[in-house]
Amino acid sequence: MPPATDFPLLCPVCRNALRFGGGGARTLVCGAGHSFDAAKQGYFNFLVGKGTVFEADSADMVAARFDFLSGGHYQRLADAIADLAAPALMDAPAFRPVVLDAGTGTGHYLRAVLDRVALDRAAPDLARDLSADGAPADGVWAAAIGLDISKFALRRAARMNPEALNVVGDVWQPLPVAENAVDVVTVVFAPRNAPEFARVLRPGGRLVVVTPRPGHLEEVAGLTGMLGIEPAKDERLAASLGNHFAPVEARDLDLALTLSPRDVANLAYMGPAGHHLDRAALAALEAALPAWTAVSARFRISVFAPIS
Ligand SMILES: C[S@@+](CC[C@H](N)C(=O)[O-])C[C@H]1O[C@@H](n2cnc3c(N)ncnc32)[C@H](O)[C@@H]1O
Ligand SMILES: [Zn+2]
Repeated sequence: MPPATDFPLLCPVCRNALRFGGGGARTLVCGAGHSFDAAKQGYFNFLVGKGTVFEADSADMVAARFDFLSGGHYQRLADAIADLAAPALMDAPAFRPVVLDAGTGTGHYLRAVLDRVALDRAAPDLARDLSADGAPADGVWAAAIGLDISKFALRRAARMNPEALNVVGDVWQPLPVAENAVDVVTVVFAPRNAPEFARVLRPGGRLVVVTPRPGHLEEVAGLTGMLGIEPAKDERLAASLGNHFAPVEARDLDLALTLSPRDVANLAYMGPAGHHLDRAALAALEAALPAWTAVSARFRISVFAPIS
């Protein structure tokens, strides 16, 4: 794990800077004496006060997401996110760039970004002089923060990204992150708090957002009664970020998937509809599905710059 000073974290109680305490990387303390111990799985719980009204993903939903993503069906999405996130990290003015994955889930896409920058950094044609700037021997370079409201997700994320600081927190609250301290914020199918993302991003930083396009998973929606993609989602994305962010570029990605009954069930269960789907009905559906189902995944990966 990079040194604590590389994680620009703020105490969720008093907003003073946090640093690692006496217990190595397992305790975070602020100057006012607030202290946070890592859970045994390695994540930190920053939810304070009376908690949140938001419904966190359940252990079953997170397990479905982990199983589905482990199958590699969305690998090209992970690659595209890494393509679009890596440049602002490679060009970061600070010695160690910082990436925040908001709504990190199992940490799958943050892993892809960290692997990409580790690779790019090791590439021989890099302009930077690796020996002069002291690249750490363990290959950890970027400082990563994974934030999610689900502790079940964070348990997985802490295992997936042990070099990251994985934090249970609510994206609708002030983020426990210092101003102008982050090079890239990634938000993959997760809630977007534009003013807070703009506050934590440095000038020249990037917000990378993944949203579904019309027709995304429509075959699965037809089978399970999942909610379809609302029209004009794209315009809503721009409008919701408009005062704080300007669009830089966008890439559409269409995947034609051939999925097993278990994959289809996991896909249905892992999204927001999982909160409302009946597990028993889903098992019955899985049993009735043919060996393979064709499913279209339609993503848009949008890159925004904060307006200063
Ligand atoms: C559809 S999942 C996407 C997870 C991950 N980005 C991925 O694509 O695999 C949405 C995630 O947002 C998290 N989430 C929902 N509301 C949140 C909030 N208010 N604050 C932080 N995370 C939240 C959920 O717990 C869940 O892990
Ligand atoms: Zn404090």
